[in-house]
Amino acid sequence: MNNVDGVDIVYGLAWGDEGKGKVSSCMARDGNYDFVCRWAGGPNAGHTVYVDGEKFKTHHIPSGVFFGISSIIGPGCVINPKKFFEELDYLDSNGFNSKLVKVSPRAHIIQDHHVNDDKNLLAKKLGTTGNGIAPCYSDKAARIGLLAKDVLPPDFIWDEKLYGNILCEGAQGVWLDLDWGNYPWVTSSTTLPYAACSLGFSTSKIREIVGVVKSYDTRSGEDPIFPESLFEDPMLAKIGDVGEEFGVTTGRRRKVNWLNFDLLKKSVDITGPSQIIVNKVDILEEIGVYKLIEDGKIIDFKNWDDMSKYISEDLVQRGVHSIWFSRDQEEIM
Ligand code: IMO
Ligand code: MG
Repeated sequence: MNNVDGVDIVYGLAWGDEGKGKVSSCMARDGNYDFVCRWAGGPNAGHTVYVDGEKFKTHHIPSGVFFGISSIIGPGCVINPKKFFEELDYLDSNGFNSKLVKVSPRAHIIQDHHVNDDKNLLAKKLGTTGNGIAPCYSDKAARIGLLAKDVLPPDFIWDEKLYGNILCEGAQGVWLDLDWGNYPWVTSSTTLPYAACSLGFSTSKIREIVGVVKSYDTRSGEDPIFPESLFEDPMLAKIGDVGEEFGVTTGRRRKVNWLNFDLLKKSVDITGPSQIIVNKVDILEEIGVYKLIEDGKIIDFKNWDDMSKYISEDLVQRGVHSIWFSRDQEEIM
């Protein structure tokens, strides 16, 4: 029997880069968790973790390790061994204990030919991160993939036991989900919070489902929903500059648009968050322009107070219990 008490899940409500790393690191630090786990994705993710005000970047590795908590890379994840070991070295050289990180024996290994195929074909066509994600998941689905248990040294392999309190840290976001995103401009895994159960606990153990979004939208990679012409809008360009909207994984400039409230409502309806964190409120405040898109039209607000009330009233009606607004230097919850 597994003795899981409760599970909290953090995930992205948009196209990734919502600030999930900040939220999950605050929760990992304060939440008395026994495990912090990732359930999907691989080195395509780029999470910024804050420890005592210092910034650290991770790709494969869940934020628990920064707070002395066992950190699990789940069976739905894909791993690039070379990059994974580089990340472990980065942890050790910064004084963290990389031995806390374990990988599911069932996680799939990204091989050189996956990376080459992705870089040569998909990165140009679909704007992927070029990490071999789609080819690796294709081989998994075709049942010709390589498992972590057959490649990684045994001491890195998770014994598949979970207990106590668990924090699950999502990668990517709802609109990059293989089923619900704007296919084929999606990633190849299930980014929705229900997929956290693939770590091996029942749905009845889920406590809080924490959705993360920003006060404006961004998109790294190709997507017709975010045309290149967005780069020409001076106000949106300013948000991108002030908000430092450059990829952690790719270094690419992200496309910026006003918060698409139509899609946010839809992602809330699909995934049922109990709480929502709206990150980077200070960026709109610094620029002093407050807009969102509803029914396909841009709506203007006088200040953040008006815009946040408008957002909250609607989302509360959809069953969200708490909505938190976060500025860069502030604590979240
Ligand atoms: P985090 O966890 C932002 C996007 C890529 C591309 C598409 C497919 O940092 O929020 P892939 O390499 O997965 O085949 O690329 O998905 N993408 C992300 N965008 N943040 C991410 O992760 C992403 N992971 C994948 O830009 O459009
Ligand atoms: Mg990212």
